[in-house]
Amino acid sequence: MEHHPIGVFDSGFGGLTVLREIERVLPQYDFLYLGDNARTPYGNRSFEVVYAYTLEAIEWLLERGCPLVILACNTASAKALRTIQQRDLPRIAPRARVLGVIRPVAETVGTLTRSGHIGVLATAGTVASDSYRIEILKHFPEVTVVQQECPMWVPLVENHECDGAGADFFVGRDIGRLLERDPLVDTLVLGCTHYPLLEERVRAHLPAGIRVVSQGEIVARSLAHYLERHPEISARCSRTGGRALYTSENPAVFDRSAALFYGRPVRSGHICLPNR
Ligand code: DGL
Repeated sequence: MEHHPIGVFDSGFGGLTVLREIERVLPQYDFLYLGDNARTPYGNRSFEVVYAYTLEAIEWLLERGCPLVILACNTASAKALRTIQQRDLPRIAPRARVLGVIRPVAETVGTLTRSGHIGVLATAGTVASDSYRIEILKHFPEVTVVQQECPMWVPLVENHECDGAGADFFVGRDIGRLLERDPLVDTLVLGCTHYPLLEERVRAHLPAGIRVVSQGEIVARSLAHYLERHPEISARCSRTGGRALYTSENPAVFDRSAALFYGRPVRSGHICLPNR
């Protein structure tokens, strides 16, 4: 069988927390990961820029034979996915599919809350897009969704400060702000690829009884169901257990930090974006 990996895209390292979980559930498939580390972070960029960067990355993955691409980045899923699905894909690759990470979480999270109050922690861009609230309310119109941007969390993770006093301060502050606005929240979505690395710290600041929702696991299960429901797509994805990782930064720089997100050592290759 020819090589047709499932593409996984993120603005940088963070999508590796999603890829890790996907691989656990679907180890037989081939995966091609692309991190746009040269242009990260996406979380504070405008709609236009996130859309343009994401489209360039998806085009690269499609050119490499991916029948299916997962946008593992919440910000890209929030700001670029719909336009790419509706406007670009029919033109550039009508048989290919691109899926995001927000919808699978939105479809699940309403079944987990008892109080009907859901909190979402995310980048400023994801919160500004309102995507989590819109998607959750589509599936669970009776719930209340309160969102809190956490602009310092990604830089803290990227600078290996998860265990420091700075992380403790900002995690405590942002959770405090969210719960002050809605003390009835009993289910908390970590709506950013980097936040699983701060999960312990988040739990330390939460009152008892609040459930933390782990995005990677939900996305992995949802992808497995998607492939079952769409045999015409899964038949086009090759299954030799292959993995390849690329970054738009220097691969040595990527490999040094990637293991933190992926859970094991990484050897990446380099590409230029845009790839013209
Ligand atoms: N991957 C991004 C997300 O999940 C976080 C990092 C960034 O801001 O680029 O929103």
